[in-house]
Amino acid sequence: MEFSVNTQAVAYLVSAILFILALKGLTHPASARRGNLYGMLGMVIAVAATLLGHEVRSYGFIIAGVAGGAVVGTILALRIQMTAMPQLVAALHSFVGLAAVLVAIGTFINTADPGAVMMGELSAGVIIGAITCTGSVIAFGKLQGLLSGAPVKFTGQHLLNAVIGLVTIGLGVHFAMTGAVWALAIMTLLAFVIGVTLIIPIGGADMPVVISMLNSYSGWAAAATGFTLHNNLLIIVGALVGFSGAILSYIMCRAMNRSIINVVFGGFGSGDDASPSAGAQAAQQGVKSSSVEDAVYWMEDANKVIIIPGYGMAVAQAQHSVKELMELLEARGVEVKFAIHPVAGRMPGHMNVLLAEADIPYDRVLEMDEINPEFPGADVALVVGANDVVNPAAKEDKSSPIYGMPILEAGKARQVFFLKRSMRPGYSGVDNLLFYRDNTSLVFGDAKDTIEGMVSVLKGSAH
Ligand code: TAP
Repeated sequence: MEFSVNTQAVAYLVSAILFILALKGLTHPASARRGNLYGMLGMVIAVAATLLGHEVRSYGFIIAGVAGGAVVGTILALRIQMTAMPQLVAALHSFVGLAAVLVAIGTFINTADPGAVMMGELSAGVIIGAITCTGSVIAFGKLQGLLSGAPVKFTGQHLLNAVIGLVTIGLGVHFAMTGAVWALAIMTLLAFVIGVTLIIPIGGADMPVVISMLNSYSGWAAAATGFTLHNNLLIIVGALVGFSGAILSYIMCRAMNRSIINVVFGGFGSGDDASPSAGAQAAQQGVKSSSVEDAVYWMEDANKVIIIPGYGMAVAQAQHSVKELMELLEARGVEVKFAIHPVAGRMPGHMNVLLAEADIPYDRVLEMDEINPEFPGADVALVVGANDVVNPAAKEDKSSPIYGMPILEAGKARQVFFLKRSMRPGYSGVDNLLFYRDNTSLVFGDAKDTIEGMVSVLKGSAH
C-alpha cells in the first residue's frame, strides 16, 4: 500500500490537530494523560503516513534505525530516574539538532539544483541544528555533573560570541548564494562552537530555562528540516515545539523575575559569586532542630498545614508517604494544602507529576500566586526537601544571586519545619535565611524516613 500525496496530506492534517489537542491537554495535570494519548496517536499517524508515502524507496535502513532507536529508547526510559529527566531531555535535544544538520547536508549532497530558497533553508537548518546539538551536550554535561555547574566566563566573551555569530551568518549567506563547500564546512564548525560558547557562561540554576530554550531551538531546527524535506507536518510540529518552548522559557523567566537576556548573558546560579551575605552571618547564630514528634505535635493541633514539596521530595521519593500524612491529618480535621513553586524540583511541572503519581487530589495543589496569601493564616508550613523556592534572601538580600526571584512565603506561617538531611544549601548554592528565623525548625533526615516517622507517630496517637 502506498499513500497518495492527498491521502498523506489529510493524515498529516489529522496529526497536526492531534498535536495541538495534546498541547492543550498538557496545560493541566487533570487532562495531561489525555493530552499524552492525543500526542501518541498523532505521532503514530504521522509516522505511518510518512512511511507509506511515495518518497520512501527502501525500508532497510529505516527498519534498522527504528529497531536500534527503540532498543536504546526503551532501555533509557526504563532506567532513567525521575530526577535525571532534565538531562535526558537535553541529550535528546542534541539528537534533534544533529539530525537537522545531517538532513541539511545530506539534502545538499543529493539535490542536483537546490535553488536559492532551498540553499537558504539548508544554511538555517545547519546553523540552528548545530547550535542546538552542542548547546544541549553542554547542558547535559552540567546537569549530569560531568561538567561544573558554575558559569564559565572570561573577558570579551560576549564580543567573541558576537563575532563568531556574525561570521557564521556571513558564511551561511555565502554558502546559500554560491554553494561553496568550504563555507558550509566552516559555518557548520563555527555553529557547533557557538552552541558551546553560548551555554558555558550560564549557571546551574538557570539550566531549566536553558533546557526549555534548547527545546525551542530544537523545534526551529525541526521546522527548518521540514522546509528542506518539503514536509508540512514537520514544519507544523517544529513550529509548535519552537513556540511552546519559547513560551515556557518566558513563563519560567517570569517565575524567577528575570529576563531571557539576563539568563543568557547573566551567568547566575554559580554559588561561587555569592558574596558573604546576611545568610552567612546568620549561620553563626545557629539554627533550631526538632524531632519528628515535635513536628507532629504542631501539625495535629493545627487548623491548616501547607506542605511545600521540593527537589528533596523527588530524591527521597517521599510523595506516597506525604499522601498518607495528608490523609491522617485530614482525618483529624486539619486542612492540608500543597504549595507549588513554578521552578521547584528540577524540571517544569516536576512536583505536579510526583503529587499526581501519589493520587493527591488536584484541588489541594495550589500554584504560588494562589497559595501565598494563605501562609499568614497557616499554622504550619512543612517544607519537604525544598530550599531555594522559600528562601527570603530572594526578597530581602540585594546582594544575593537569587534576589528578585518570587518565592513561596512559607516564613509567614506560624511555624515552619524543614525536612532535609543537612545544612547544605539548595541548587543555587545560596544559604537560606529562613533557617535562622525564630519560627523555623529543621527536622534532619531523609524526607521519606522523616515523613514515615510522622505517619507512624500519628497512627500511634489516634484519638
Ligand atoms: P533546592 O533548592 O535544590 O533544595 C533541595 C533540598 O532538598 C536541598 O536543600 C537538600 O538538602 C534537600 N534534599 C535532597 N535530598 C533529600 C532527601 N533525600 N531528603 C530530604 N531532603 C533532601 O530545591 P527546590 O527548593 O525545589 O528549588 C529548585 C531549585 O532548582 C531552584 O534553584 C531552581 O532554579 C533549580 N532548578 C529548577 C529546575 C526546574 S525547571 N524546576 C531545573 C533545574 C534547576 P540536604 O542536602 O540537606 O538534604
